[in-house]
Amino acid sequence: MTRGRLILFEGLDRTGKTTQSEALLKYLNLQGDQSSSSKRCELIKFPERSTPIGKLINNYLVDKSFKLPDQSIHLLFSSNRWELTEQIKSSLQKGNDVLLDRYVFSGIAYSLAKDTERMDFDWCLSPDIGLIKPDLTIFLTTDSDISTSNQINNRSGFGAERYEKSDFQLKVKAKFDIVFNYFFKDYTKSSSATTSNMYTSSDGITTLLKVNVIDKDIP
Ligand code: TYD
Repeated sequence: MTRGRLILFEGLDRTGKTTQSEALLKYLNLQGDQSSSSKRCELIKFPERSTPIGKLINNYLVDKSFKLPDQSIHLLFSSNRWELTEQIKSSLQKGNDVLLDRYVFSGIAYSLAKDTERMDFDWCLSPDIGLIKPDLTIFLTTDSDISTSNQINNRSGFGAERYEKSDFQLKVKAKFDIVFNYFFKDYTKSSSATTSNMYTSSDGITTLLKVNVIDKDIP
């Protein structure tokens, strides 16, 4: 039996990851139905808020008065990925495709954006060492900082959760560049927008799609 594919959607808050991953989920399941194969596609969104650790993370995100050291919340996000690892592996081994909405790269980029002393790149990566590597990563971003800040601010519901502030999102965007430059060969070259990799959602937000196959293993 061929192992299923592990496909990851990454990006800033509210850039369409959920919309795109759900659309792909629907498409792949429809393909499975049409070929009458028993393969199913599964979508896992990180943070996975229903687990014991996920509930804690959810409280932290929605309740801005909930205090946790940056190190602790970083480790909880990573721990949440480990909680789901067996489930992901077992689905892939059954031949099912698994789609992920956020993963290790969000973990590193968001924590680096906090500029916390001694939480450098290696520190942030280390709890995720050994996690299963995606076969394909699709990064949703915007093409310029100005449009990022204007667009993100105007999204409906934006601002409800802890990291939804345009100045913080701009920092995360810069950190994603560092993270992706480390993991993906030719990331910089793949970063310019062309009409074929831009799309505009119904609420007028333009998103740039960057598709990369991971070059370096998550160690
Ligand atoms: P998510 O539920 O994906 O938010 P959205 O649907 O708005 O994109 O993620 C919640 C927040 O958690 C988001 O601001 C990104 C942040 N996050 C981290 O800081 N570290 C992580 O490891 C992950 C997975 C998410």
